[in-house]
Amino acid sequence: MMMRKPLLLLLAPLLACGSPTDPISGQQLLGQSFGVPGVNASYDYVIVGGGTAGLLLANRLSASPANTVAVIEAGTFYEFSNGNISAIPRYVWTGTGMTLDDANPLVDWMFTTSPEIGFGNQSIHYARGRALGGSSARNHIGYQRGTAGSYDKWAADVGDAGFAWSNFQSFFDKSVTFHKVDASKRRANSTPPDDPAGARATGGEVSVSYTNYVGPFTSWALKAVRALGMKAIPGYIGGVLIGSSWDMRSVDPKTMVRDSAETAFLRPVLKRPNLVVYPNTMATRVLFEGTKAVGVQTDTLGKVTRLTARKEVILSAGVFQSPQLLMVSGIGPKAILSKYGIPVIADLPGVGENLHDHPAALVVHKVKTPSSTQFNTAAKRVAADASFLRDGTGPLSGTGGEIIGWEKVPRRLISKKTAADLDAAVPKDWPDLEILATEGYPGPIPPDDGDYVGIDIALVNTFSRGTVSISSASSLDPPVIHINFLSDPRDQEILIAAVRRAREIFADKTLAPVLIGDEISPGNATQSDEDILSYIHKSAQIFFHASSTCKMGTKGDEQAVVDSKGRVFGVQALRVVDLSAVPFLPPGHPMATVYALAEKQAAAILGGT
Ligand SMILES: Cc1cc2nc3c(=O)[nH]c(=O)nc-3n(C[C@H](O)[C@H](O)[C@H](O)COP(=O)(O)OP(=O)(O)OC[C@H]3O[C@@H](n4cnc5c(N)ncnc54)[C@H](O)[C@@H]3O)c2cc1C
Ligand SMILES: *[C@@H]1O[C@H](CO)[C@@H](O)[C@H](O)[C@H]1NC(C)=O
Ligand SMILES: *[C@@H]1O[C@H](CO)[C@@H](O)[C@H](O)[C@H]1NC(C)=O
Ligand SMILES: *[C@@H]1O[C@H](CO)[C@@H](O)[C@H](O)[C@H]1NC(C)=O
Ligand SMILES: *[C@@H]1O[C@H](CO)[C@@H](O)[C@H](O)[C@H]1NC(C)=O
Repeated sequence: MMMRKPLLLLLAPLLACGSPTDPISGQQLLGQSFGVPGVNASYDYVIVGGGTAGLLLANRLSASPANTVAVIEAGTFYEFSNGNISAIPRYVWTGTGMTLDDANPLVDWMFTTSPEIGFGNQSIHYARGRALGGSSARNHIGYQRGTAGSYDKWAADVGDAGFAWSNFQSFFDKSVTFHKVDASKRRANSTPPDDPAGARATGGEVSVSYTNYVGPFTSWALKAVRALGMKAIPGYIGGVLIGSSWDMRSVDPKTMVRDSAETAFLRPVLKRPNLVVYPNTMATRVLFEGTKAVGVQTDTLGKVTRLTARKEVILSAGVFQSPQLLMVSGIGPKAILSKYGIPVIADLPGVGENLHDHPAALVVHKVKTPSSTQFNTAAKRVAADASFLRDGTGPLSGTGGEIIGWEKVPRRLISKKTAADLDAAVPKDWPDLEILATEGYPGPIPPDDGDYVGIDIALVNTFSRGTVSISSASSLDPPVIHINFLSDPRDQEILIAAVRRAREIFADKTLAPVLIGDEISPGNATQSDEDILSYIHKSAQIFFHASSTCKMGTKGDEQAVVDSKGRVFGVQALRVVDLSAVPFLPPGHPMATVYALAEKQAAAILGGT
């Protein structure tokens, strides 16, 4: 009895961050929600990875007290391990750069890629969340959906009409609640539509809202892309992307604090006695009896534990580690498994293949609208903190990067052959380019105390594919990541065209009143294809949207790893549910798609398929 009060006090910081629900109530101890290393245990479902997909699944599968559910997560609550950085929209860029220097190993896996052609043969840091919430605790909180045509193609490719837009939409809706813009807090000249197309969901756990703040350059840039033909559309969630609109985020509509899979799906249900979380714990391999998955072995700082799965093991360890866990457990390309002495349970050549991602390039100008200078004195930083904490306003409540439009790459900027290949690859409503307005100078040291902004353009219809593999039979060793972006010469050609397109946006007369001087980078000496490509090699970005390394498909598809219900081919009682288990990467940022996929697969599991 004496212990209860201090435990509640211990929990106070956890409760302070937005959740209305007290995870400890009545007679239940906080520790009751967590598993103990070294104590073997049995559950109906064992979920590997408490990330974006994993925590939604854990919530749905534990909704009925009849099911017991364990979640194994290598990280812990990011509120404990990353200060206030994960909570504040403006800090989304912190620790996500090309180098490891600013990343925090308590919330990031610190992965580096193999040398990347697209980055001039340099390795890059590839950000991945290592926390409850996974990459939803680490990302830029952008919430948007792919196009209707992209999901219809998904349905056709995997032979399951459930993924067609008209059917899949309800699974997107189930986990979210849309909030109208707070017109009392957001500037009048940056007012988005009150009712974006597709914003019909209420009652789901993830809050999706407009941020109270967007950088003033965004309003100007939006005018420019509209002048260049990207017509106004009401939001990016209604199955239409080609056009231009304001961007929505997964944030609490009042406080502007990040809403992640942890805040949305775990915290409110932590007290369920049938849900047990193993934080700070590595899943090391899936255990089999014959070809049936029967549990997971874990490692907590060297302490080995066996968690038995009476019904199923579900891998939600993300695009790199779900395939890694399959491989070290005996499922994957036979040649690779044999090389590391791993006995083959199922020879699936597609494990680790088909990696898609979105590369981008940035053009930068100095401007008259405030961006970097909002934080350039101690007094301004104090004011920004105070404003954010008071009522979720001020520059910390915006992310500093907004999607302003999507389009097919103008055909005059690329070859006829590449244009034909782009058109053949995707449905008509699938854009080639995603255009963003960003704030701030893109390097560590700005040349002066001015305001810098960028037009950043990403390729969302790509030809290059990468891989993930293993370097040993242990999942404690990092996976071998090769994004391979821009390896296909057509992607190089299109990204060069994208840089020219970004310059056209800056050159539009609507922006003339705010620009100061000549282009900062690449700078107008950089004009030839060759020079633009070498600029890209030095400064390209990758959007951290890696997908499809355990591709979903039909039984006849040699590269398919899972069927449309996420079941791994060739074995029983094992699924993969995360962004690795999609047939391809739809256009746009994938978090919403991950939530929808997990929602749909949870329904399949509960429905007995
Ligand atoms: C910097 C950044 C910015 C992004 N911005 C956006 C954005 O604005 N909008 C958007 O839609 N998408 C964005 N994305 C992409 C999006 O966040 C991810 O694609 C998505 O969250 C992936 O979800 P997932 O469930 O597949 O994997 P994750 O959410 O990464 O979950 C995997 C989980 O498994 C755990 N895990 C892995 N291996 C093991 C193991 N062996 N044992 C135990 N646990 C393990 C990890 O720690 C992690 O918690 C961004 C990503 C990053 C990194
Ligand atoms: C990267 O490596 C490849 C293969 O070795 C080489 O052809 C290419 O020129 C290199 N690129 C750069 C920018 O150095
Ligand atoms: C728990 O499981 C581990 C790994 O399978 C095993 O080595 C250990 O003996 C088990 N402990 C008990 C008490 O059964
Ligand atoms: C975030 O934390 C830092 C200390 O790490 C502090 O200086 C800053 O004021 C905090 N900001 C807010 C808005 O809480
Ligand atoms: C850049 O281009 C502009 C417009 O064509 C020109 O006026 C300016 O002198 C150029 N600057 C440099 C550094 O080449």
